Amino acid sequence: MTSEAFILCENLVKIYKVADLEVVALQGIDLTVQSGEMLALVGPSGSGKSTLMNILGGLDTPTAGRVSVGNYNLLEMTRREQVLYRRREVGFVWQQTARNLLPYLSAQENVELPMALDGVPARQRSQRARALLEQVGLGARLRHRPDRLSGGEQQRVAIAVAMANQPRLLLADEPTGEVDSEAAEQIFNTLRAFNRDHGVTIIIVTHDASVASRVDRVIGMRDGRTSTEIVRRRAEDGQIASADEYAIVDRAGRLQLPQAYLEKLGIAERARLKLRHDHVGVYPDRQNE
Ligand SMILES: Nc1ncnc2c1ncn2[C@@H]1O[C@H](COP(=O)(O)OP(=O)(O)O)[C@@H](O)[C@H]1O
Ligand SMILES: [Mg+2]
Repeated sequence: MTSEAFILCENLVKIYKVADLEVVALQGIDLTVQSGEMLALVGPSGSGKSTLMNILGGLDTPTAGRVSVGNYNLLEMTRREQVLYRRREVGFVWQQTARNLLPYLSAQENVELPMALDGVPARQRSQRARALLEQVGLGARLRHRPDRLSGGEQQRVAIAVAMANQPRLLLADEPTGEVDSEAAEQIFNTLRAFNRDHGVTIIIVTHDASVASRVDRVIGMRDGRTSTEIVRRRAEDGQIASADEYAIVDRAGRLQLPQAYLEKLGIAERARLKLRHDHVGVYPDRQNE
């Protein structure tokens, strides 16, 4: 791979055991993310997006494979390292607005809490919390409790909470899933601003096509694997100059073709391959007809 990756997943596997059933939630994910990237993770329900986010957030441990974020090897963390990792290296924003904030604390107190847990002195906490709430556009709502804020405002407080200890990684699992499109726009812009101004690496799980269309890289997941990737290039003026679509090829050479391509060409079960000097042709298996 290229220069030191910030996030590195290699053949990452997660198996949940439920009674005597095994659910393979991640089937060998390979993923590299550079520091400062902002990327979206998309895919059907059950494809493993939240599982991957929970592993990257240090909330769940993988069954096998390798995964590291910065200097942390997430597979071999001690309990203490895990606590520090969650407190300092990574911030999390959940879809359910209620899950992000404590209901009996004001916006400012919510943002101060992770700093208090990390031993930041009171004055510094209070200053930083105010600055963060101003950055997310809620400087006039410091003393409001969550129930007096709209869903979109609560999510922006949640972003301020997630950024409180200046993590290098921000994970947002469907942060705009429960708000209207105008609030979603503000949430996205807030995330974008933190990425641009503070260089925080951001991964957003989203079903929202307009969010996915405005990040530089979109990773598609399917059945516990990364399947496709869209990479956008920007011209000098910031406008999107081109968008290239890729299929991910894993270490074993497996590649997933988009469902739409399979349907269009009637490819099922097997395809004929032809190696050309600079590409591989994939053809329907006409012998089946
Ligand atoms: N705690 C769990 N116990 C058992 N199975 C789980 C658990 N969490 C997720 N799964 C299963 O793992 C698969 C991937 O789930 P998830 O990561 O939540 O997908 P997504 O976020 O893409 O909808 C699904 O089949 C789901 O049922
Ligand atoms: Mg999910």
